[in-house]
Amino acid sequence: MLAGKYILLIIGGGVAAFKSLDLIRRLRERGATVTPVLTGAAQQFVTPLSASALAAQKVYLDLFDLTDEAEMGHIELSRVADLVVVAPATADLMGKMANGLADDLASTLLLATDKRVLVAPAMNVRMWQHPATQRNVAALRGDGILFVGPDDGHMACGEFGPGRMAEPLAIVAAVESALTDGPLKGRRIIVTSGPTHEPIDPVRYIANRSSGAQGTALARALSALGADVVFITGPADVAPPEGVQVEKVQTAAQMMAAVQAALPADAAVFAAAVADWHVANGSGSKIKKDGRGAIPALRLTENADILATVSQMTQGRPALVVGFAAETDDVIAHATAKRVRKGCDWIVANDVSPETGIMGGTENAVTVISADGAETWPRMAKDQVANRLAAKIAQALT
Ligand code: CTP
Repeated sequence: MLAGKYILLIIGGGVAAFKSLDLIRRLRERGATVTPVLTGAAQQFVTPLSASALAAQKVYLDLFDLTDEAEMGHIELSRVADLVVVAPATADLMGKMANGLADDLASTLLLATDKRVLVAPAMNVRMWQHPATQRNVAALRGDGILFVGPDDGHMACGEFGPGRMAEPLAIVAAVESALTDGPLKGRRIIVTSGPTHEPIDPVRYIANRSSGAQGTALARALSALGADVVFITGPADVAPPEGVQVEKVQTAAQMMAAVQAALPADAAVFAAAVADWHVANGSGSKIKKDGRGAIPALRLTENADILATVSQMTQGRPALVVGFAAETDDVIAHATAKRVRKGCDWIVANDVSPETGIMGGTENAVTVISADGAETWPRMAKDQVANRLAAKIAQALT
């Protein structure tokens, strides 16, 4: 609930601006007061009148509007809010933010504010992927700016990929999490989840039965405690949680790169079922039967161990590194040895023998192993395991 919360909503100039009108409605439904600010370009996409009508508030448009300065100066406007939300955040607006430019009302408010800022980027996929935009995103993250989205999808310009503004309800979830004073507020936590797919050729891959349910539940639970979660997921069955930064990958190598790009972090939880091997002699084109019954021989090479790599970092290691161990026999002995071998702080061990129904199921029975010993929890829903583990992580970090 957002009752009593005051949100300054900066609407940038993009096709997604129309979704910000729905965002105003959703925020107000939850009790928030929303004051819209429209950039000059935003006014090409939505009218100040519709924003004002939906917000039931005055809309601010121009830095040099003297009446506004008499009523409420731009400094004050930027400070009375509990949270500043920029949706859609265009490449241009993020560029200005990253470089401290203040040449209109929106950018001036963003430079003058002393409140947290949440941005929902929206732009063409190539603009999002451009090194200049990615440099600005990294700089903004470094400044503590929160992000929601962008999502993958078809875009108004006809292309497909990351760049679509997050849906209004996902932005609402991010707003709620940004305003929650949970014990993990301000803590950045990386969570890996799901299986990885290791290609054999363009149509075939090696995978495993992980659904991503436990990692997803954990990311949601950490976010609910106020953490800024970077959720790095392979192709999972379950949808990623809302209100967290989602990085989708396919292979173990891509997962490693995404984890490295997400560092530094206060904690990292490696719940993904990463493939141990990839196909070294994979084919760029579909492998065909040769008609004489010859079977193709796949040569496997070991993937780099993400958990071990991060656990053994000599500089910038997260304060808490948590691994998972999926075992089918001698669970505690194997997991205890794995913790020492990989160098992580905790290992969450679970028995994934088919008769337990844990892999791909809704319940989990885990033992948390640390330097202090093993703690076996009763079998419970994966959501409950996630909540309990998130609380334990919060206790360890605070
Ligand atoms: N892991 C990882 N990178 C890999 C392999 C595993 O980060 N390339 C992480 C998993 O996310 C999990 C932990 O390591 O947190 C344990 O993975 P698991 O596959 O169970 O262990 P293995 O190292 O494969 O050991 P074994 O083959 O003996 O089971």
